[in-house]
Amino acid sequence: MFSKDGKTKNVSSPKICDVVWHDGEFIKWNDARVHVMSHVLHYGSSVFEGIRCYATKNGPAIFRLREHMQRLLNSAKIYRMDHNLSMDQLVAASVELARRSGLEQCYIRPILFRSLDEVHPAFGVNPFPNPLACYIGAWDWGKYLGDEAIEKGVDVCVSTWNRLTPNSMPAMAKSGANYMNSQLIKMEALVNGFAEGIALDDRGYVSEGSGENIFMVSGDTVLTPPLSSSILAGITRDSVIQICHTLGIPVKERSIQRAALYVADELFFSGTAAEITPIRSVDRITVGSGERGTITTKIQQAFFEITKGERPAPGPWLTYVNDKKQAESPTRKAGEGASGTRSGSSGEDSQAILVYQTAGGD
Ligand SMILES: Cc1ncc(COP(=O)(O)O)c(C=O)c1O
Repeated sequence: MFSKDGKTKNVSSPKICDVVWHDGEFIKWNDARVHVMSHVLHYGSSVFEGIRCYATKNGPAIFRLREHMQRLLNSAKIYRMDHNLSMDQLVAASVELARRSGLEQCYIRPILFRSLDEVHPAFGVNPFPNPLACYIGAWDWGKYLGDEAIEKGVDVCVSTWNRLTPNSMPAMAKSGANYMNSQLIKMEALVNGFAEGIALDDRGYVSEGSGENIFMVSGDTVLTPPLSSSILAGITRDSVIQICHTLGIPVKERSIQRAALYVADELFFSGTAAEITPIRSVDRITVGSGERGTITTKIQQAFFEITKGERPAPGPWLTYVNDKKQAESPTRKAGEGASGTRSGSSGEDSQAILVYQTAGGD
């Protein structure tokens, strides 16, 4: 998709939905604009989500929509954004947007930010005087790390940039400002010829990629860094953990040392954009056999079957766009693995906190 250094794009523009949801109504894509003096442009005051809508035999279906919206609401709460948005409104808006897009599959991007009151403008850091605005856009987004990556894997490096420290910028909030750190990680990786960078936390333990969580396979066990390693509580990460449970694969949250990456049997990224992407080398050291590993393959296969609606999900993970009742995918056992889920599994340093529990079910 991109040239090796990430500076040029070699595919045609993505298909874009020509309407955007804005605070309760649909407007034209071309009218979705902000003033250059908006607070968000100067001080990074936005929270957002990235959600995939998959093609299934029953039409497009949005993956874990409520969990994503709950994380958006949580991010807004952390940043004291006093809005009037409700879960049901955001869910309905996303479903309607995906429907109006006419796309079989798409990527949905809700964003809530501090804008500018043009009658009574405020220019300081204090965000409170600035009005909030919420938009949701959608476009067709292919494989984030390239088409080949899903099968062949990617070559990555450990970044010289650390992930955010817990008491500087909260990594568990998906805020626009956090992505300045992600951009440093990504650009460094690209200019050095890697597809992605892995950041360590401030203690030197493995944290995550610039836009993905990371998993390591050691023997028959799957390991992933805990929330205390300054990671975003990824919804795909949670899906991988739940898939491991259903496949009977042992999975644990553990602090991971950098050197463990080099001797891992398998490594893979998880994320809405990256989905499940194998990692074939770190710092030019080959991971395992250098090919997609057997456990990665099993998890990847289950994940893609679930997103296509071809395999029962551990919970109500799919919201069908064309179903008036927004019917959900078949569930393994009714009531099990509810839409609000605990972070990860048991582990010595696991933080068993609810990171995006939804109020009430679907
Ligand atoms: C920094 C970071 N970590 C992890 C993830 C994966 O999160 P999710 O699986 O919810 O997309 C993302 C993507 O949103 C991300 O940007």
